[in-house]
Amino acid sequence: MERVEDAGVYKLTDELAIIQTLDFFTPIVDDPFIFGQIAAANSLSDVYAMGGKPLTAMNIVCFPIQNMDISILREILLGGLEKMREADVVLVGGHSVDDQELKYGLSVTGTIHPQKVLRKEGSKPGDRLILTKPLGTGIISTAVKGGFASKEAANRIAKSMSTLNRKASEVMQEIGANACTDITGFGLLGHAAEMIEGTDVGMVIYANSVPVFTETKELAAMGMIPGGLYRNRDFRKSIVEFKPDVEEFQADILFDPQTSGGLLISVSKEKAQHMLNKLHQAGVEESAIIGEVVDNPKGKIIVKATQ
Ligand code: CO
Ligand code: CO
Repeated sequence: MERVEDAGVYKLTDELAIIQTLDFFTPIVDDPFIFGQIAAANSLSDVYAMGGKPLTAMNIVCFPIQNMDISILREILLGGLEKMREADVVLVGGHSVDDQELKYGLSVTGTIHPQKVLRKEGSKPGDRLILTKPLGTGIISTAVKGGFASKEAANRIAKSMSTLNRKASEVMQEIGANACTDITGFGLLGHAAEMIEGTDVGMVIYANSVPVFTETKELAAMGMIPGGLYRNRDFRKSIVEFKPDVEEFQADILFDPQTSGGLLISVSKEKAQHMLNKLHQAGVEESAIIGEVVDNPKGKIIVKATQ
């Protein structure tokens, strides 16, 4: 089956391929500098998800020049630039258009050895699944807009969303994985479904093992649910089966649309604990093993509370 990968890969020689990706979106936080950081981290993530090394980037900007102060754009671009520096990525250009709605992101080019490309497909029965960032950015962002989330929760997700997936990707490539993708708008289970749909493997996810930001459970139980969440859940209802021990709000969280979420890595059973230790040592502290790959049922995801 032809699946859409996180980024486009083009082989130049037997040793070298380029990876290209493009992402931009409307502000999800009020602070323009932090929005710039998050948008850049999010754009770079698809290169990291494939195990690549980003090298250059170009800014993509839509800005309402007639009715917004240009200093806001300056802050956004500075936030983005800071993340590019942290990623050792060189800004080589960009393009801006006058638009009613502010949007920002990057087009990123990177490199990878053609044999080391990590695709969504490639999980093997017995693999363990590692998630490298907690879930809940969609639910908490919704609660922030309604005034229901604490300042701490808002700061916590902003920090996570602006964190590069670089270290996670480097550890993954150092230890060796079988498949990977990054968690964004379709939520954990939506992106997990992309890894197994139409293949001869399935997954079992342990809901209680999935890391979530503090307050996410309370806010989800209160009904702070972003619109995209139910679309995600509805879209995958034929692939995902929830056992009765999984609570309704837990099921919702597993479909929460993430912005600049973590990597979901499929790694052999033998290497999994070692990779997890290395991730923790590298500062990817909230990484956790959240499930495993099974040969039965194929093309399906079973969600249980515990192992
Ligand atoms: Co992606
Ligand atoms: Co993307």
